[in-house]
Amino acid sequence: MSIPDIIIAVDGYSSTGKSTFAKMVAAEFGFLYLDSGAMYRGVALCTLEAGLAHEDATFDEQGLQALLPSLELHFRREEGATKLFLGDRCIEGEIRTLGVSKFASPVSALPFVRHFVDDKLHGFAAGGRVIMDGRDIGTTVFPNAEVKIFMTAEPAERARRRYEEHLAKGENVTLEEVRANLEERDYRDSHRETSPLRQAADAYVLDNTHMTLHEELVWMLGLLQGKFGLLESPGLSW
Ligand code: DC
Repeated sequence: MSIPDIIIAVDGYSSTGKSTFAKMVAAEFGFLYLDSGAMYRGVALCTLEAGLAHEDATFDEQGLQALLPSLELHFRREEGATKLFLGDRCIEGEIRTLGVSKFASPVSALPFVRHFVDDKLHGFAAGGRVIMDGRDIGTTVFPNAEVKIFMTAEPAERARRRYEEHLAKGENVTLEEVRANLEERDYRDSHRETSPLRQAADAYVLDNTHMTLHEELVWMLGLLQGKFGLLESPGLSW
């Protein structure tokens, strides 16, 4: 038996390793990986570049509403990875800085921005066989997704992982700054009115605080085998 062309929704707190997990599962089982957070980050970057974001993380909402339809945000496969583009410009690197991270969460709380992103996500996933990560994929974007996973990990471990990512990119940040940003985003993402982050009733919880990537993949394989029967090639490459 092989895995059918389903949608796998992966939600959870910031920096729980959702994208690493989802990319690994996509590569292992032949799924298209889509990062919904990248779209919110892309909108945040464009908002900043257009001078529509204020220091206190509020926005010129009218200006942003007028700007959105002109934003050609889309994913493109390049060098084996799915990257976010604005027209022909690859913005995958720029959307991952702490500066953009600070505005991604507040911009994603605006209902018209969520509407804009949800429309795009439905279009990108139209071909099926997709694994998508985010905050509301299993609850709002694809409430009928066949497999839903909710990822979590202890905050200190999440801050440490994200801090090391910033350091590796040569960004000058402190662990305290990174942890404060994580906590603020978790709070905002879980308390906003539109599509707050919450665990879907039918989601499987994956707490990876003390897990290796290989253990996460074995966990996923067990889940898929339980749902769809024995898979053709259970030999894992991770
Ligand atoms: O997953 P991420 O950290 O790249 O996401 C960036 C921000 O986008 C995050 O603070 C919350 C928001 N987001 C969201 O509200 N809904 C999603 N489905 C994905 C991300």
